[in-house]
Amino acid sequence: MTDMKQIEQELLSYIPKDIPETATVMSSMKYSLSAGGKRIRPMLTMEFAKLCGGSKDNAVPFACAVEMIHTYSLIHDDLPCMDNDDLRRGKPTNHKVFGEAAALLGGDGLLTLAFETVLSERAVNLNGYEKCVKAGRTLAEYAGAAGMIGGQIIDLESEDKQVTIDRLKVMDEKKTGALIAAACVMGCISAGANDVQIQAAKAYAMHIGIAFQIVDDILDVTSDTATLGKPVGSDAQNKKSTYVSLLGLDECRKISRELTEKAVESLNAFDGDTEPLRQFAYYLCDRQK
Ligand code: IPE
Ligand code: IPE
Ligand code: MG
Ligand code: MG
Ligand code: MG
Repeated sequence: MTDMKQIEQELLSYIPKDIPETATVMSSMKYSLSAGGKRIRPMLTMEFAKLCGGSKDNAVPFACAVEMIHTYSLIHDDLPCMDNDDLRRGKPTNHKVFGEAAALLGGDGLLTLAFETVLSERAVNLNGYEKCVKAGRTLAEYAGAAGMIGGQIIDLESEDKQVTIDRLKVMDEKKTGALIAAACVMGCISAGANDVQIQAAKAYAMHIGIAFQIVDDILDVTSDTATLGKPVGSDAQNKKSTYVSLLGLDECRKISRELTEKAVESLNAFDGDTEPLRQFAYYLCDRQK
């Protein structure tokens, strides 16, 4: 898969230069952005760009933007008013270090920076205005209230409630699938992919996305804090409704496998070398962290 060194280097380069008066919010942004993480979303952006005949390099600003949105979503997800978690990516959560207000603003800063990045001179020089506009629109749609944010509110409103599996599916599609779909589709856009390819990328993304959240919910029960770099047992503590709480571990392992197989089938729509994305889907399904 894609070498992530380039992403690690470029991610921070988009943060505006410190001016002393705003150092706290810049530090909050940098802290979470440079804390590591698996970087699966940027990898997907770059792999789809390549699969659709484009260049990974051109897709880098789009890949960085998706990771900025993801990182902001984690900062906010960990706040006391949401999941109230103290550890993320092996480090104290943003609000534990900078306080709630600076964590909120650091998240807001990363959300805004994502769009600055998609529309940056660098992104325009590499992709042209039209692709940048399409990519920005895609990111806004999938990360917004109809996508990730919509999923997060369903998640919070489902705490300590009996909910149907259909509702959980919508929740996972939105809170996790949508941003993964944005990552894949923005890679396609960078490469100038056609509608058939974009639809197939979406199908792949939504299937691996739901599987990804189910595996995340499984690991919250079966793993340990040192391995995950975030607290285990958080879902039970918050009385979250998840596939695991509703269907149990064995059924969830089966479903995540089936979703992964469906995702891989969607790759048949592409002419290029789909092997890296096939392997990646199985890696995500079998991951231990
Ligand atoms: C965690 O995402 C949040 C979910 C959507 C389940 P990741 O597991 O991709 O988190 P990092 O980026 O590796 O920390
Ligand atoms: C988070 O889901 C999904 C987001 C949009 C951030 P979780 O709440 O399960 O993610 P973790 O387990 O805290 O990483
Ligand atoms: Mg959450
Ligand atoms: Mg959480
Ligand atoms: Mg979780």
